[in-house]
Amino acid sequence: MNKDFSSSKTAVGESAREMQIRRMPFEFPDEIDPHWNPRLPEWSHMANGASLAMPFLEPYLIRTLRKASELIDSETLKADVKLYMGQEAQHYQQHRKFNDTLIANGYVELPEVERRLSEDYKNMEENRSLKFNLAYAAGFESMALGVGHWLIRDREYLFGDSDTKVASLILWHFVEEIEHKNVAIDAYNYVYGDYFYRIYGVLYATFHVLKYSRIAYKLMLERDSLWSNLASRWRLMKIILRFHKNVLPSFFEACLPNHHPSKRPDPQWCNEWLDLYQKEGHTLEQIDTKNLTPGFS
Ligand SMILES: [Fe+2]
Ligand SMILES: [Fe+2]
Repeated sequence: MNKDFSSSKTAVGESAREMQIRRMPFEFPDEIDPHWNPRLPEWSHMANGASLAMPFLEPYLIRTLRKASELIDSETLKADVKLYMGQEAQHYQQHRKFNDTLIANGYVELPEVERRLSEDYKNMEENRSLKFNLAYAAGFESMALGVGHWLIRDREYLFGDSDTKVASLILWHFVEEIEHKNVAIDAYNYVYGDYFYRIYGVLYATFHVLKYSRIAYKLMLERDSLWSNLASRWRLMKIILRFHKNVLPSFFEACLPNHHPSKRPDPQWCNEWLDLYQKEGHTLEQIDTKNLTPGFS
């Protein structure tokens, strides 16, 4: 066991901010437009496709970290794992509500994708080792960190003038993904610490989640008759290239032997979000998507 880990505190000036479980009770009326960014319907469906996986992926991460916690003696790390589980539980419950609106909007093929996701995670838990599942969790979190940095850095392009509820759901989720960036890798390093197997986890988790996201967004674009539309496919290609350009460096960084998420400073906007939430309670449920440039200051 490797007992060398860092606590998951976010540096804020001289002090350190503790993680916390924030409740964001979003309400998504059925009439919410699945093309919540009308400028970029293909991006809307890419994010919808990723959202579809969350109510299956995140409970799996929670169960995995709960099992790992039984093998951890450090009270600090155990406390971080508990907060991590609390945050992930909030995330998937809100994504569940959002995903239900997608299905209610006529994307009737999605429950079959959900069934496959559920089966996959059940199989991994029943038939693979805890080492595999924890490496998956640490690998997924490494990628979530890279995606979180991209979403915040590129927020004006990705969320400008979009539906505030959906933008708020996604940005709240990824602010917390950045906040709990250290927990799964610290748990993995504490219990196993096998570098090459961790890389296997990064690869497996990344391709697994991307595979299901693609299956889901393809089905939604087909239902919209956009999959066969050349202009739409070109827009989709551009956003996929944008994703790769922004997220691939994080992927390679996550594969380095000395990788640790604590070495990467958190985006300023992310810290501002956390500070403002602290001050004003639940007012961040609806981010102003017409004013994303200057952050909150
Ligand atoms: Fe999450
Ligand atoms: Fe996470």
